[in-house]
Amino acid sequence: MFSLREAEALARERLDPAHYDYFAGGAGDEVTLRANETAFGRLALLPRVLRGAGRARPEITLLGGRLALPVLVAPTAFHRLADPEGERATARAAASAGTIMIVSMASTVAVEDVAAAAPGAALWFQLYLQPDLAFTASIVRRAEKSGCRALVVTADSPARGRRERELRHGFDDLPDGLCCENLRDGDGRVRPIVMSPELTWEHLGLLREMTALPIVLKGVLHPADARTAVGHGVAALMVSNHGGRQLDTVPAAVEALPEVVAAVGGAVPVLLDGGVRRGTDVLKALALGADAVAVGRPVIWGLAADGERGAARVLEILRAEVEESLTLCGCGSVRDLDPGMVRRSC
Ligand code: FNR
Repeated sequence: MFSLREAEALARERLDPAHYDYFAGGAGDEVTLRANETAFGRLALLPRVLRGAGRARPEITLLGGRLALPVLVAPTAFHRLADPEGERATARAAASAGTIMIVSMASTVAVEDVAAAAPGAALWFQLYLQPDLAFTASIVRRAEKSGCRALVVTADSPARGRRERELRHGFDDLPDGLCCENLRDGDGRVRPIVMSPELTWEHLGLLREMTALPIVLKGVLHPADARTAVGHGVAALMVSNHGGRQLDTVPAAVEALPEVVAAVGGAVPVLLDGGVRRGTDVLKALALGADAVAVGRPVIWGLAADGERGAARVLEILRAEVEESLTLCGCGSVRDLDPGMVRRSC
């Protein structure tokens, strides 16, 4: 496997078509899904020469942790549809690559078991705030006890996006034997995830009172929301359109990025996900002001192609591509990137 595209092709051969479409698909006409990738293609890198920067080092520091590459594993649901080990394998792959895995609330392995499978792994936990605050608190406690180092609150889901590929396959539930293990309540019953349109900034405040963990707000596109989030004490923001799976025709993530970066003004780190498929995409996002990016589907493709090894390979390909592209841009590290190194090419 030499590229993330190849990982997807291999995964597609191996996955049940309904599961492939669940992972690959987006909302509506999939305009945003496509735009996430094509927007990177429309940007050109403008390398610098003769700067004597030496061989580039792609590592970064984020919320106090050191990462071997500026790429995190975005939270995605249902990894056991891709590999029997599921999120356990993903966590081990992320740990061996030297990066953070954001464990989805909709993980098919309980967060405790993900943590136990990859001792020392840097895990963050993604949360859809549940209107039952006591239940939300119990999930937060489980993430804390499992050693998760941050909570990623996904704010772009006041309802579920309408994904026609899933409707066509009739894919509306996990197969027998699989469930969202983090949604078990005190009686061991698995509750459905509630995506609530009633949530407000106040709920974010209540979450802050519940936990000392840093809170990362995921799914921000509007600069005004970015400013409000900073005012509410978030530790970081994630510019994301949920991989084009929620509201269709919103801007590509990398197109929304510069305005959010300007609104945040360096107050907190800004992350981005959506459409990152090459090391050069990572460089473009970082040059435009992101502190790190995350990848969702590519890790699932690696997992489906070759389990833990495949997911690790995807991250290693990205690490190598980032290192090589930085060197070719005349940069010794990601700190040498700046907005002047990105141009609109067409
Ligand atoms: C997701 N995403 C997601 N986000 C989240 O906050 N909680 C979740 O449970 C999920 N589940 C999920 C499942 C699948 C199959 C996909 C593809 C995506 C969104 C994810 O975190 C991320 O925003 C996108 O995947 C990024 O886009 P790319 O890298 O897939 O293009």
